[in-house]
Amino acid sequence: SSTTASRAEGMGFAFKPIDIATDHTIHVPEGYQWKVLARWGDALFSDAQDAYSPDTGVDVSKSDRVFGENTDGMELFTDGDKQIIAVNSEYVNPKINLPAASEGMPQNADEVMLLKNMQGVTVMEVADMGNGYEIVVDSPYNRRITHETQMTMDGPAAGSDLVKTNADPEGMSPKGTMNNCGSGKTLWGTYLTCEENFNGYFGATGEYDVTDEFKRYGIGGEGRYAYEKFDPRYDLSKEPNEPHRHGWVTEINPLDPASTPIKHTALGRFKHENAEMVQAADGRVVVYMGDDERGEFIYKFVSNGVYTEGGSTEGLLSDGTLYVAKFNDDMSGEWLALTPETTGMSIEDILVFSRIAGSKVGATTMDRPEWVAAHPSKVEAYCALTNNKNRGVKPNAGGDDTPVGGPNPRESNNFGQIVRWMPAGADHGADAFTWDLYVMAGNPSVYDNAYAGSKNVTAGNMFNSPDGMAFSSDGYLWIQTDGDDSNEGEFEGQGNNQMLVGNTETGDIGRFLTAPNGAEVTGLCWSADKKVAFVGIQHPGGSWPDGAGKPRSSVIAVWREDGALIG
Ligand code: FEO
Ligand code: CA
Ligand code: CA
Ligand code: CA
Repeated sequence: SSTTASRAEGMGFAFKPIDIATDHTIHVPEGYQWKVLARWGDALFSDAQDAYSPDTGVDVSKSDRVFGENTDGMELFTDGDKQIIAVNSEYVNPKINLPAASEGMPQNADEVMLLKNMQGVTVMEVADMGNGYEIVVDSPYNRRITHETQMTMDGPAAGSDLVKTNADPEGMSPKGTMNNCGSGKTLWGTYLTCEENFNGYFGATGEYDVTDEFKRYGIGGEGRYAYEKFDPRYDLSKEPNEPHRHGWVTEINPLDPASTPIKHTALGRFKHENAEMVQAADGRVVVYMGDDERGEFIYKFVSNGVYTEGGSTEGLLSDGTLYVAKFNDDMSGEWLALTPETTGMSIEDILVFSRIAGSKVGATTMDRPEWVAAHPSKVEAYCALTNNKNRGVKPNAGGDDTPVGGPNPRESNNFGQIVRWMPAGADHGADAFTWDLYVMAGNPSVYDNAYAGSKNVTAGNMFNSPDGMAFSSDGYLWIQTDGDDSNEGEFEGQGNNQMLVGNTETGDIGRFLTAPNGAEVTGLCWSADKKVAFVGIQHPGGSWPDGAGKPRSSVIAVWREDGALIG
Protein backbone atom coordinates (compact mmCIF):
# COMPACT_ATOMS: atom_id res chain seq x y z
CA SER A 1 0.00 0.00 0.00
CA SER A 2 1.11 3.55 -0.64
CA THR A 3 2.78 5.63 2.02
CA THR A 4 1.19 8.80 3.33
CA ALA A 5 3.69 10.94 1.46
CA SER A 6 3.14 9.34 -1.92
CA ARG A 7 -0.59 9.54 -1.46
CA ALA A 8 -0.29 13.17 -0.48
CA GLU A 9 1.83 13.95 -3.50
CA GLY A 10 -0.94 12.58 -5.67
CA MET A 11 -3.49 14.91 -4.09
CA GLY A 12 -2.70 17.96 -6.13
CA PHE A 13 -1.64 20.08 -3.20
CA ALA A 14 1.04 22.68 -3.78
CA PHE A 15 2.83 21.52 -0.63
CA LYS A 16 4.04 18.26 0.85
CA PRO A 17 1.80 17.53 3.84
CA ILE A 18 3.59 17.43 7.19
CA ASP A 19 3.55 15.02 10.10
CA ILE A 20 1.97 15.68 13.46
CA ALA A 21 3.94 17.53 16.13
CA THR A 22 3.78 17.51 19.92
CA ASP A 23 6.30 20.28 20.63
CA HIS A 24 5.99 23.98 21.46
CA THR A 25 6.59 25.60 18.12
CA ILE A 26 5.05 25.99 14.65
CA HIS A 27 5.75 23.64 11.76
CA VAL A 28 4.98 24.36 8.10
CA PRO A 29 5.79 22.33 4.96
CA GLU A 30 9.19 22.20 3.28
CA GLY A 31 9.74 25.35 1.24
CA TYR A 32 7.55 27.52 3.51
CA GLN A 33 8.53 29.99 6.24
CA TRP A 34 6.73 31.64 9.10
CA LYS A 35 7.28 34.54 11.48
CA VAL A 36 5.29 36.31 14.16
CA LEU A 37 3.29 39.32 12.98
CA ALA A 38 1.54 40.47 16.18
CA ARG A 39 1.68 39.22 19.76
CA TRP A 40 -0.53 39.94 22.76
CA GLY A 41 0.71 43.30 24.09
CA ASP A 42 2.50 44.47 20.93
CA ALA A 43 2.15 48.22 20.40
CA LEU A 44 -0.25 49.69 17.88
CA PHE A 45 0.97 53.18 18.80
CA SER A 46 4.49 54.35 19.63
CA ASP A 47 3.44 55.63 23.07
CA ALA A 48 2.64 52.01 23.98
CA GLN A 49 5.97 50.48 22.95
CA ASP A 50 6.76 49.75 26.59
CA ALA A 51 3.26 48.55 27.52
CA TYR A 52 4.24 44.89 27.64
CA SER A 53 6.66 43.37 30.12
CA PRO A 54 7.57 39.67 30.10
CA ASP A 55 7.18 39.61 33.89
CA THR A 56 3.96 41.55 34.42
CA GLY A 57 2.19 41.52 31.05
CA VAL A 58 0.38 44.64 29.85
CA ASP A 59 0.16 47.91 31.82
CA VAL A 60 -3.51 48.86 32.28
CA SER A 61 -2.85 52.51 31.36
CA LYS A 62 -1.79 51.48 27.84
CA SER A 63 -3.94 48.39 27.50
CA ASP A 64 -6.24 49.84 24.85
CA ARG A 65 -3.29 50.80 22.64
CA VAL A 66 -1.82 47.33 22.10
CA PHE A 67 -2.76 44.09 20.34
CA GLY A 68 -5.30 42.11 22.40
CA GLU A 69 -5.00 38.57 23.75
CA ASN A 70 -6.32 35.26 22.35
CA THR A 71 -6.59 36.10 18.69
CA ASP A 72 -9.50 34.60 16.73
CA GLY A 73 -11.45 35.48 13.55
CA MET A 74 -9.63 37.83 11.21
CA GLU A 75 -10.14 39.48 7.81
CA LEU A 76 -7.94 41.64 5.58
CA PHE A 77 -9.14 44.85 3.94
CA THR A 78 -7.48 47.18 1.47
CA ASP A 79 -7.61 50.94 1.03
CA GLY A 80 -5.64 51.75 -2.09
CA ASP A 81 -2.30 50.08 -1.47
CA LYS A 82 -2.78 49.95 2.31
CA GLN A 83 -3.59 46.62 3.96
CA ILE A 84 -5.62 46.59 7.15
CA ILE A 85 -6.35 43.54 9.30
CA ALA A 86 -9.33 43.45 11.65
CA VAL A 87 -8.91 40.66 14.18
CA ASN A 88 -10.81 39.44 17.23
CA SER A 89 -9.45 38.88 20.73
CA GLU A 90 -11.93 36.36 21.99
CA TYR A 91 -11.25 36.10 25.71
CA VAL A 92 -8.46 36.49 28.28
CA ASN A 93 -6.41 34.18 30.45
CA PRO A 94 -6.62 36.06 33.77
CA LYS A 95 -3.74 34.08 35.25
CA ILE A 96 -1.47 35.37 32.49
CA ASN A 97 -2.80 38.94 32.56
CA LEU A 98 -3.19 39.57 36.29
CA PRO A 99 -0.68 39.62 39.16
CA ALA A 100 -0.26 36.24 40.86
CA ALA A 101 -1.96 37.62 43.99
CA SER A 102 -5.20 37.94 42.01
CA GLU A 103 -5.33 34.15 41.61
CA GLY A 104 -7.01 34.59 38.25
CA MET A 105 -9.84 36.86 39.42
CA PRO A 106 -9.71 40.67 39.23
CA GLN A 107 -9.42 42.29 42.65
CA ASN A 108 -10.13 45.89 41.64
CA ALA A 109 -11.57 48.07 38.90
CA ASP A 110 -8.17 48.53 37.21
CA GLU A 111 -7.78 44.78 36.84
CA VAL A 112 -11.27 44.54 35.37
CA MET A 113 -10.40 47.34 32.93
CA LEU A 114 -7.22 45.52 31.89
CA LEU A 115 -9.19 42.38 31.08
CA LYS A 116 -11.84 44.38 29.20
CA ASN A 117 -9.19 46.06 27.10
CA MET A 118 -7.35 42.85 26.23
CA GLN A 119 -10.51 41.59 24.47
CA GLY A 120 -12.64 42.81 21.61
CA VAL A 121 -11.22 43.74 18.23
CA THR A 122 -7.92 45.11 16.95
CA VAL A 123 -7.80 47.02 13.67
CA MET A 124 -4.23 47.42 12.45
CA GLU A 125 -2.45 48.37 9.27
CA VAL A 126 0.17 45.82 8.25
CA ALA A 127 2.89 46.11 5.62
CA ASP A 128 5.86 44.20 4.33
CA MET A 129 8.70 46.37 5.66
CA GLY A 130 11.38 44.44 3.77
CA ASN A 131 11.74 41.85 6.50
CA GLY A 132 8.29 40.34 6.20
CA TYR A 133 5.00 41.76 7.44
CA GLU A 134 4.84 43.96 10.53
CA ILE A 135 2.28 46.16 12.27
CA VAL A 136 2.44 49.75 10.97
CA VAL A 137 2.77 51.47 14.35
CA ASP A 138 0.84 54.78 14.57
CA SER A 139 -1.09 54.12 11.37
CA PRO A 140 -4.26 56.22 11.31
CA TYR A 141 -6.22 52.98 10.76
CA ASN A 142 -5.04 51.46 14.05
CA ARG A 143 -7.82 51.12 16.56
CA ARG A 144 -8.94 49.06 19.53
CA ILE A 145 -12.58 48.18 20.08
CA THR A 146 -13.22 46.75 23.54
CA HIS A 147 -15.90 45.88 26.06
CA GLU A 148 -16.26 49.63 26.63
CA THR A 149 -16.54 50.96 23.07
CA GLN A 150 -19.76 52.83 22.25
CA MET A 151 -21.93 50.97 19.71
CA THR A 152 -25.31 51.37 18.10
CA MET A 153 -27.99 48.81 17.15
CA ASP A 154 -30.29 48.37 14.20
CA GLY A 155 -32.94 45.93 13.04
CA PRO A 156 -36.30 44.99 14.58
CA ALA A 157 -35.06 44.38 18.16
CA ALA A 158 -33.17 47.68 18.39
CA GLY A 159 -35.03 50.02 20.72
CA SER A 160 -37.30 47.25 22.03
CA ASP A 161 -38.06 46.92 25.73
CA LEU A 162 -35.85 43.83 25.86
CA VAL A 163 -32.67 45.85 25.24
CA LYS A 164 -33.37 48.95 27.38
CA THR A 165 -31.17 49.59 30.42
CA ASN A 166 -30.78 52.34 33.01
CA ALA A 167 -27.84 53.75 31.08
CA ASP A 168 -29.63 53.48 27.75
CA PRO A 169 -33.40 53.95 28.18
CA GLU A 170 -33.86 54.14 24.40
CA GLY A 171 -32.26 50.71 23.88
CA MET A 172 -30.21 51.96 20.95
CA SER A 173 -26.72 52.59 22.36
CA PRO A 174 -25.10 49.45 23.77
CA LYS A 175 -21.51 49.51 24.93
CA GLY A 176 -18.92 46.93 24.02
CA THR A 177 -18.61 43.81 21.93
CA MET A 178 -17.50 40.69 23.77
CA ASN A 179 -16.27 37.17 23.25
CA ASN A 180 -15.55 37.99 19.64
CA CYS A 181 -14.99 34.60 18.10
CA GLY A 182 -15.38 34.11 14.36
CA SER A 183 -15.63 36.83 11.78
CA GLY A 184 -16.96 37.73 8.38
CA LYS A 185 -16.47 40.24 5.64
CA THR A 186 -19.30 42.04 3.92
CA LEU A 187 -19.52 42.40 0.15
CA TRP A 188 -19.03 46.14 0.75
CA GLY A 189 -15.77 45.76 2.64
CA THR A 190 -16.66 45.99 6.32
CA TYR A 191 -15.82 43.62 9.15
CA LEU A 192 -18.32 41.40 10.95
CA THR A 193 -17.29 40.39 14.46
CA CYS A 194 -19.36 37.67 16.07
CA GLU A 195 -20.21 37.61 19.78
CA GLU A 196 -20.03 34.06 21.11
CA ASN A 197 -19.92 33.10 24.82
CA PHE A 198 -21.16 36.48 26.07
CA ASN A 199 -23.17 34.77 28.81
CA GLY A 200 -20.07 34.19 30.95
CA TYR A 201 -19.41 37.89 31.49
CA PHE A 202 -22.52 38.43 33.62
CA GLY A 203 -22.99 37.69 37.29
CA ALA A 204 -25.09 39.01 40.15
CA THR A 205 -24.48 40.75 43.45
CA GLY A 206 -28.14 40.36 44.48
CA GLU A 207 -31.40 38.62 43.59
CA TYR A 208 -32.53 38.32 40.01
CA ASP A 209 -35.09 36.36 38.05
CA VAL A 210 -33.63 33.18 36.51
CA THR A 211 -35.85 33.04 33.43
CA ASP A 212 -36.12 30.18 30.93
CA GLU A 213 -34.54 32.57 28.42
CA PHE A 214 -31.52 33.09 30.71
CA LYS A 215 -31.26 29.31 31.14
CA ARG A 216 -31.34 28.59 27.41
CA TYR A 217 -28.41 30.98 26.95
CA GLY A 218 -26.49 29.84 30.03
CA ILE A 219 -26.83 33.21 31.77
CA GLY A 220 -26.54 33.23 35.54
CA GLY A 221 -24.22 32.18 38.31
CA GLU A 222 -20.79 33.72 38.74
CA GLY A 223 -19.32 35.97 36.09
CA ARG A 224 -16.13 34.39 34.80
CA TYR A 225 -14.09 37.57 35.41
CA ALA A 226 -15.99 39.11 38.36
CA TYR A 227 -16.91 42.16 36.26
CA GLU A 228 -20.22 42.43 38.13
CA LYS A 229 -18.42 43.24 41.37
CA PHE A 230 -16.88 46.38 39.90
CA ASP A 231 -19.25 47.41 37.11
CA PRO A 232 -23.06 47.37 37.57
CA ARG A 233 -23.55 46.96 33.80
CA TYR A 234 -22.58 43.29 34.23
CA ASP A 235 -24.73 42.75 37.33
CA LEU A 236 -27.90 40.80 36.53
CA SER A 237 -29.53 42.01 39.73
CA LYS A 238 -29.17 45.61 38.49
CA GLU A 239 -29.30 45.34 34.70
CA PRO A 240 -31.18 42.19 33.70
CA ASN A 241 -31.48 43.41 30.08
CA GLU A 242 -27.76 43.99 29.58
CA PRO A 243 -27.14 40.38 28.36
CA HIS A 244 -29.77 40.98 25.64
CA ARG A 245 -27.46 43.59 24.16
CA HIS A 246 -24.78 40.97 23.46
CA GLY A 247 -24.72 37.83 21.35
CA TRP A 248 -25.05 39.74 18.08
CA VAL A 249 -23.17 40.07 14.83
CA THR A 250 -21.50 43.49 14.97
CA GLU A 251 -20.32 45.43 11.91
CA ILE A 252 -17.18 47.58 12.02
CA ASN A 253 -15.81 49.78 9.24
CA PRO A 254 -12.07 49.12 9.51
CA LEU A 255 -11.23 51.95 7.13
CA ASP A 256 -12.86 54.61 9.33
CA PRO A 257 -11.46 54.67 12.86
CA ALA A 258 -14.13 57.18 13.90
CA SER A 259 -17.03 54.95 12.82
CA THR A 260 -19.47 53.55 15.38
CA PRO A 261 -19.84 49.75 15.33
CA ILE A 262 -23.39 48.50 14.66
CA LYS A 263 -25.04 45.49 16.30
CA HIS A 264 -27.38 43.91 13.75
CA THR A 265 -30.33 42.43 15.60
CA ALA A 266 -31.91 41.10 12.37
CA LEU A 267 -29.22 38.38 12.31
CA GLY A 268 -30.41 36.87 15.58
CA ARG A 269 -28.94 36.48 19.04
CA PHE A 270 -27.06 33.34 19.93
CA LYS A 271 -23.49 32.21 20.57
CA HIS A 272 -22.29 33.31 17.18
CA GLU A 273 -19.31 31.62 15.63
CA ASN A 274 -18.79 33.42 12.31
CA ALA A 275 -20.88 35.14 9.63
CA GLU A 276 -20.28 34.00 6.05
CA MET A 277 -21.81 36.40 3.54
CA VAL A 278 -22.74 35.33 0.01
CA GLN A 279 -25.36 36.44 -2.49
CA ALA A 280 -28.60 34.84 -3.62
CA ALA A 281 -29.15 34.44 -7.36
CA ASP A 282 -31.34 37.56 -7.34
CA GLY A 283 -28.73 39.65 -5.55
CA ARG A 284 -30.12 39.50 -2.02
CA VAL A 285 -27.55 39.18 0.76
CA VAL A 286 -27.33 35.80 2.52
CA VAL A 287 -25.40 35.34 5.79
CA TYR A 288 -24.75 31.83 7.11
CA MET A 289 -24.12 31.54 10.87
CA GLY A 290 -23.44 28.77 13.38
CA ASP A 291 -24.43 28.77 17.06
CA ASP A 292 -21.56 27.03 18.84
CA GLU A 293 -23.16 25.04 21.59
CA ARG A 294 -23.96 21.34 21.87
CA GLY A 295 -27.35 20.76 20.30
CA GLU A 296 -27.87 24.28 18.91
CA PHE A 297 -28.59 25.29 15.32
CA ILE A 298 -27.31 26.65 12.01
CA TYR A 299 -28.98 29.85 10.79
CA LYS A 300 -29.11 32.01 7.71
CA PHE A 301 -30.26 35.57 7.23
CA VAL A 302 -31.61 36.71 3.87
CA SER A 303 -32.01 40.43 3.18
CA ASN A 304 -35.07 41.92 1.55
CA GLY A 305 -32.97 44.34 -0.45
CA VAL A 306 -30.47 43.55 -3.18
CA TYR A 307 -26.76 44.38 -3.12
CA THR A 308 -25.13 45.82 -6.18
CA GLU A 309 -21.46 46.76 -6.24
CA GLY A 310 -21.03 50.35 -5.21
CA GLY A 311 -24.77 50.65 -4.49
CA SER A 312 -26.49 51.54 -1.23
CA THR A 313 -26.12 49.05 1.63
CA GLU A 314 -29.00 50.62 3.58
CA GLY A 315 -31.08 47.96 5.28
CA LEU A 316 -29.11 45.00 3.95
CA LEU A 317 -28.33 43.73 7.46
CA SER A 318 -31.37 45.15 9.23
CA ASP A 319 -34.31 44.25 7.01
CA GLY A 320 -34.80 40.60 6.07
CA THR A 321 -35.70 37.14 7.34
CA LEU A 322 -33.87 34.84 9.73
CA TYR A 323 -34.04 31.12 8.93
CA VAL A 324 -32.90 28.02 10.79
CA ALA A 325 -31.74 24.74 9.25
CA LYS A 326 -33.52 21.40 9.31
CA PHE A 327 -31.45 18.48 8.03
CA ASN A 328 -33.40 15.35 7.09
CA ASP A 329 -32.06 11.80 7.25
CA ASP A 330 -32.65 11.40 3.49
CA MET A 331 -29.96 14.04 2.87
CA SER A 332 -32.44 16.74 2.00
CA GLY A 333 -32.89 19.83 4.09
CA GLU A 334 -34.81 23.04 4.40
CA TRP A 335 -34.45 26.51 5.79
CA LEU A 336 -37.33 27.26 8.15
CA ALA A 337 -38.29 30.93 8.41
CA LEU A 338 -38.50 32.37 11.92
CA THR A 339 -41.49 34.69 11.78
CA PRO A 340 -44.36 35.59 14.12
CA GLU A 341 -46.55 33.22 12.05
CA THR A 342 -44.21 30.21 12.29
CA THR A 343 -43.22 30.69 15.95
CA GLY A 344 -46.09 32.48 17.67
CA MET A 345 -43.48 34.90 19.02
CA SER A 346 -43.09 38.64 18.44
CA ILE A 347 -40.31 39.62 16.05
CA GLU A 348 -38.37 41.15 18.96
CA ASP A 349 -38.58 37.87 20.90
CA ILE A 350 -37.58 35.85 17.81
CA LEU A 351 -34.43 37.89 17.38
CA VAL A 352 -33.42 38.22 21.05
CA PHE A 353 -34.29 34.59 21.82
CA SER A 354 -33.53 33.00 18.45
CA ARG A 355 -32.71 29.63 20.02
CA ILE A 356 -36.22 29.36 21.43
CA ALA A 357 -37.69 30.33 18.06
CA GLY A 358 -35.56 27.64 16.38
CA SER A 359 -36.87 25.01 18.79
CA LYS A 360 -40.46 26.03 18.03
CA VAL A 361 -40.07 25.30 14.31
CA GLY A 362 -38.20 22.00 14.80
CA ALA A 363 -34.68 22.95 13.69
CA THR A 364 -32.03 20.21 13.78
CA THR A 365 -29.82 20.12 16.87
CA MET A 366 -26.21 20.09 15.69
CA ASP A 367 -22.83 18.96 17.04
CA ARG A 368 -21.61 22.48 17.94
CA PRO A 369 -21.71 24.50 14.69
CA GLU A 370 -18.48 26.47 14.35
CA TRP A 371 -17.37 28.26 11.16
CA VAL A 372 -19.31 28.26 7.91
CA ALA A 373 -17.28 28.70 4.71
CA ALA A 374 -18.81 29.17 1.27
CA HIS A 375 -17.03 27.89 -1.83
CA PRO A 376 -15.70 30.83 -3.88
CA SER A 377 -16.83 29.52 -7.26
CA LYS A 378 -19.50 26.88 -6.56
CA VAL A 379 -22.80 27.35 -4.79
CA GLU A 380 -22.16 25.25 -1.72
CA ALA A 381 -21.32 25.91 1.92
CA TYR A 382 -19.53 23.98 4.64
CA CYS A 383 -19.94 24.08 8.42
CA ALA A 384 -17.49 22.63 10.94
CA LEU A 385 -19.41 20.65 13.58
CA THR A 386 -16.61 20.58 16.06
CA ASN A 387 -17.65 17.77 18.47
CA ASN A 388 -20.44 16.90 20.90
CA LYS A 389 -19.71 14.57 23.77
CA ASN A 390 -23.40 14.74 24.74
CA ARG A 391 -24.87 13.69 21.36
CA GLY A 392 -27.35 10.91 21.96
CA VAL A 393 -26.43 10.87 25.64
CA LYS A 394 -28.16 13.87 27.14
CA PRO A 395 -30.27 16.73 25.85
CA ASN A 396 -28.98 20.20 25.21
CA ALA A 397 -29.04 22.20 28.46
CA GLY A 398 -32.37 24.00 28.43
CA GLY A 399 -32.95 22.99 24.84
CA ASP A 400 -34.01 20.08 22.70
CA ASP A 401 -33.25 16.36 22.65
CA THR A 402 -30.18 15.49 20.59
CA PRO A 403 -30.76 12.09 18.99
CA VAL A 404 -28.17 10.60 16.64
CA GLY A 405 -29.07 11.14 12.99
CA GLY A 406 -28.57 13.10 9.79
CA PRO A 407 -25.33 15.09 9.77
CA ASN A 408 -24.78 14.25 13.47
CA PRO A 409 -24.42 10.48 13.10
CA ARG A 410 -22.35 9.49 16.15
CA GLU A 411 -23.17 9.24 19.83
CA SER A 412 -20.61 10.86 22.19
CA ASN A 413 -18.86 12.49 19.24
CA ASN A 414 -15.39 13.65 20.30
CA PHE A 415 -13.98 14.04 16.79
CA GLY A 416 -16.38 16.25 14.84
CA GLN A 417 -17.33 16.44 11.16
CA ILE A 418 -17.83 18.95 8.38
CA VAL A 419 -21.29 19.10 6.79
CA ARG A 420 -21.75 20.56 3.32
CA TRP A 421 -24.98 21.78 1.73
CA MET A 422 -25.85 22.40 -1.88
CA PRO A 423 -28.74 24.92 -2.18
CA ALA A 424 -31.56 24.00 -4.55
CA GLY A 425 -31.21 25.53 -7.99
CA ALA A 426 -27.65 26.58 -7.12
CA ASP A 427 -29.17 29.56 -5.28
CA HIS A 428 -28.14 30.51 -1.74
CA GLY A 429 -31.54 32.18 -1.48
CA ALA A 430 -33.40 28.88 -1.92
CA ASP A 431 -35.40 27.33 0.94
CA ALA A 432 -34.33 23.75 0.11
CA PHE A 433 -30.94 22.05 -0.09
CA THR A 434 -29.25 18.69 -0.17
CA TRP A 435 -26.39 17.86 2.15
CA ASP A 436 -23.56 15.40 2.72
CA LEU A 437 -20.58 15.08 5.05
CA TYR A 438 -17.35 16.34 3.49
CA VAL A 439 -15.37 14.63 6.24
CA MET A 440 -16.09 12.81 9.45
CA ALA A 441 -12.99 13.13 11.64
CA GLY A 442 -11.87 10.09 13.58
CA ASN A 443 -8.97 7.84 14.41
CA PRO A 444 -8.45 4.90 12.03
CA SER A 445 -5.48 3.69 14.11
CA VAL A 446 -7.63 3.21 17.21
CA TYR A 447 -11.08 2.38 15.80
CA ASP A 448 -12.51 0.26 13.02
CA ASN A 449 -16.06 1.61 13.32
CA ALA A 450 -17.66 5.02 12.71
CA TYR A 451 -15.09 6.57 15.06
CA ALA A 452 -12.37 5.71 12.54
CA GLY A 453 -13.78 8.57 10.47
CA SER A 454 -14.71 8.83 6.81
CA LYS A 455 -12.50 7.29 4.15
CA ASN A 456 -10.64 10.55 3.46
CA VAL A 457 -9.28 10.35 7.03
CA THR A 458 -6.04 8.37 7.27
CA ALA A 459 -3.36 7.70 9.88
CA GLY A 460 -1.36 10.36 8.01
CA ASN A 461 -3.83 13.27 8.08
CA MET A 462 -6.06 12.65 11.08
CA PHE A 463 -7.27 15.40 13.39
CA ASN A 464 -10.11 16.17 15.76
CA SER A 465 -12.43 19.12 16.34
CA PRO A 466 -12.53 21.17 13.13
CA ASP A 467 -13.35 24.79 13.97
CA GLY A 468 -12.06 27.66 11.79
CA MET A 469 -12.54 27.34 8.04
CA ALA A 470 -11.91 29.49 5.00
CA PHE A 471 -11.63 28.93 1.28
CA SER A 472 -8.64 30.21 -0.62
CA SER A 473 -9.46 31.77 -3.98
CA ASP A 474 -8.35 28.57 -5.75
CA GLY A 475 -11.18 26.62 -4.11
CA TYR A 476 -9.24 24.72 -1.42
CA LEU A 477 -10.81 24.49 2.03
CA TRP A 478 -8.47 25.40 4.92
CA ILE A 479 -9.47 23.72 8.15
CA GLN A 480 -8.23 24.77 11.61
CA THR A 481 -8.63 22.62 14.68
CA ASP A 482 -9.46 23.35 18.32
CA GLY A 483 -9.41 19.97 19.94
CA ASP A 484 -7.74 17.53 22.25
CA ASP A 485 -3.98 17.79 21.69
CA SER A 486 -2.96 15.23 24.32
CA ASN A 487 -1.91 12.78 21.58
CA GLU A 488 -3.22 10.04 23.86
CA GLY A 489 -6.02 7.49 23.93
CA GLU A 490 -8.46 8.02 21.10
CA PHE A 491 -6.46 11.09 20.06
CA GLU A 492 -3.16 9.22 19.75
CA GLY A 493 -1.45 10.03 16.48
CA GLN A 494 -3.27 13.36 16.07
CA GLY A 495 -0.72 15.55 17.87
CA ASN A 496 -1.08 19.26 18.41
CA ASN A 497 -3.85 21.37 16.92
CA GLN A 498 -3.29 22.02 13.26
CA MET A 499 -4.35 23.55 10.00
CA LEU A 500 -5.16 21.27 7.08
CA VAL A 501 -6.05 21.86 3.47
CA GLY A 502 -8.94 20.00 1.84
CA ASN A 503 -9.61 19.33 -1.81
CA THR A 504 -13.39 19.47 -1.95
CA GLU A 505 -13.58 17.64 -5.30
CA THR A 506 -11.59 14.55 -4.30
CA GLY A 507 -12.08 14.72 -0.54
CA ASP A 508 -8.32 14.60 0.01
CA ILE A 509 -6.98 16.40 3.06
CA GLY A 510 -3.34 17.24 3.83
CA ARG A 511 -1.81 18.72 6.98
CA PHE A 512 -0.24 22.13 6.35
CA LEU A 513 0.67 23.53 9.79
CA THR A 514 0.97 22.37 13.36
CA ALA A 515 0.53 24.72 16.33
CA PRO A 516 2.48 24.82 19.58
CA ASN A 517 1.14 22.37 22.16
CA GLY A 518 -1.69 23.92 24.15
CA ALA A 519 -2.76 26.24 21.34
CA GLU A 520 -5.64 26.13 18.93
CA VAL A 521 -5.44 27.56 15.42
CA THR A 522 -7.92 30.44 14.94
CA GLY A 523 -8.49 32.86 12.11
CA LEU A 524 -7.08 32.96 8.60
CA CYS A 525 -6.76 35.61 5.96
CA TRP A 526 -4.36 36.38 3.14
CA SER A 527 -2.32 39.39 2.03
CA ALA A 528 -3.76 41.34 -0.89
CA ASP A 529 -1.28 39.69 -3.28
CA LYS A 530 -2.14 36.24 -1.87
CA LYS A 531 1.51 35.48 -1.20
CA VAL A 532 1.19 35.46 2.59
CA ALA A 533 -1.29 33.71 4.87
CA PHE A 534 -2.00 35.25 8.28
CA VAL A 535 -2.87 32.60 10.85
CA GLY A 536 -4.00 32.98 14.46
CA ILE A 537 -2.45 30.99 17.30
CA GLN A 538 -4.67 31.19 20.39
CA HIS A 539 -3.82 30.20 23.99
CA PRO A 540 -0.37 28.70 23.30
CA GLY A 541 1.40 26.79 26.05
CA GLY A 542 5.03 27.00 27.18
CA SER A 543 6.67 30.34 26.47
CA TRP A 544 5.73 30.54 22.81
CA PRO A 545 6.72 32.54 20.84
CA ASP A 546 9.30 34.48 22.88
CA GLY A 547 11.05 31.39 24.25
CA ALA A 548 10.96 32.83 27.78
CA GLY A 549 8.34 34.52 29.91
CA LYS A 550 4.61 34.33 29.38
CA PRO A 551 2.98 32.52 26.47
CA ARG A 552 1.61 35.08 24.00
CA SER A 553 -1.26 34.47 21.64
CA SER A 554 -0.11 35.74 18.24
CA VAL A 555 -0.92 36.15 14.59
CA ILE A 556 1.78 34.66 12.38
CA ALA A 557 2.59 35.18 8.71
CA VAL A 558 3.30 32.11 6.53
CA TRP A 559 4.67 32.27 3.01
CA ARG A 560 6.38 30.25 0.32
CA GLU A 561 10.11 30.83 0.01
CA ASP A 562 9.82 30.97 -3.77
CA GLY A 563 7.23 33.75 -3.54
CA ALA A 564 4.46 31.72 -5.16
CA LEU A 565 0.80 32.35 -4.32
CA ILE A 566 -0.53 30.69 -1.20
CA GLY A 567 -4.11 31.98 -1.04
FE1 FEO B 1 -14.97 30.61 20.04
FE2 FEO B 1 -16.85 28.37 18.91
O1 FEO B 1 -15.26 29.08 19.08
CA1 CA C 1 -13.99 28.75 17.14
CA1 CA D 1 -13.81 25.53 19.16
CA1 CA E 1 -11.75 27.98 21.27
